[in-house]
Amino acid sequence: MRINKLLGVAAAVAAVVAFAASSAEAKTTVRISHTQIESHPQHAGWVAMKNYVESKLGDKYDIQIFPNGTLGANEKVLELIKQGVVQFLGVSTANIESFDKTYAVFSVPFLFTSEKAYEGFISQPEILSALSANAEKDGFRCLGAYTAGTRNFYSKTPIKTVDDLKGKKFRVQAGPTNVAMMNAFGAAATPMAFGEVYSALQQGVIDGAENNELALTQQKHGEVCKYFSYDGHQMCPDMLVVSEKFYKGLPDEDRKVFEEACQEAQKVEFAAWHKSVDEAKEQAKKMGVEFINVDASAFREKVLPLHEQLLKDNPAIKDLYEKASAYDAANK
Ligand code: GCU
Repeated sequence: MRINKLLGVAAAVAAVVAFAASSAEAKTTVRISHTQIESHPQHAGWVAMKNYVESKLGDKYDIQIFPNGTLGANEKVLELIKQGVVQFLGVSTANIESFDKTYAVFSVPFLFTSEKAYEGFISQPEILSALSANAEKDGFRCLGAYTAGTRNFYSKTPIKTVDDLKGKKFRVQAGPTNVAMMNAFGAAATPMAFGEVYSALQQGVIDGAENNELALTQQKHGEVCKYFSYDGHQMCPDMLVVSEKFYKGLPDEDRKVFEEACQEAQKVEFAAWHKSVDEAKEQAKKMGVEFINVDASAFREKVLPLHEQLLKDNPAIKDLYEKASAYDAANK
C-alpha cells in the first residue's frame, strides 16, 4: 500500500517534470548578456525589456538575463551573438569598434559638449539605423542605446591638470580610437577588459582608469583610486545589440514587440541613470574618493587635433561624426 502510494507520488512528480520540460521546449530561449551588476540601471532596463515581452507575448519566450559578464567578455559574447547562441548583449560602442568601425565615432573625445545633446542624439531612431547599416555583414544590429554617462579620469594620485597624466599608465576600453585618445592625452594607454580593471589597479599594473562614477562603487575602483577628475572627455553609449540571426528569424509581430521592448528598456535606464550617478558619488565620498573639478578646456585642447587624424584613419565615422557635431551645436 505504502509502496503503491510512493510510486504514485513518483509518477506524479515525473509527470510534472515532463510537463515542465515539454512546455520549456516549446518556448524559445532568449539569452541576454551584460557586464554590469544587478543594481546597475542597465540591469533594470533589461528586466523591463523582459517584462514587456512577457506582457505582450505571454510565455512564448524564455528570457534569461546574465549580468556581471557571466557569459564572458563582450568581444567573446559578440561572436556568440553573431552565431545566434546569445540573442541580446548590452555593450559599449568601444567594444564594437573591432567588429564595425562605424561605432568608433563615440570614442572620439569631446564629441559632445553636454549630456543633454548626447542623450538626445542616441535616442534618435535614425542613429540606430545608421549604426546598424552593416547589420547583415556584422551579424548584429542595435535596437536601443543606454546612456553610460560621461567618462572622466580617476587615479591613485590626483589629476589636476592634463600634464598630470604624462607617462602614467591608464586603462582604456579596447579599440584603436581609445588607445589613440589616451596616448594623445600624454598617458600610456593600457587596453583591457572591464572585469580586469580592479585587480590591475590593485596590483599596480595601471595607475588609473577612466569611466563614469558608477565604476567607483559598483566595480569598487574607488577602493583603490581616491581621486576622480571631471574633464568629461567621452560620452560613449552601451548599445542594446540583437543577434541578426535571431532578429531575422522572428515572426513580424514578435519582432515589433522586441523592438518596442528595447525602447522601453532604454526609457527605464535613462530615467534611473542620473539618480544612480548622484548616489554613486555620495557613496564614493564615503569611501574616501575626492572629486576634482579640473579646467576641462585644457584637456579638450590637448586632444582636439586628434579629430582630424581619426577621421582620416577611419572614414567610416565621418557621417555620424558630422551629424553628432551638428546635433551638439543645436542642442547645447
Ligand atoms: C562602462 C560601460 C560598459 C563598459 C565599461 C568599461 O561601465 O557602461 O559598457 O564596458 O564602462 O569601461 O569597459
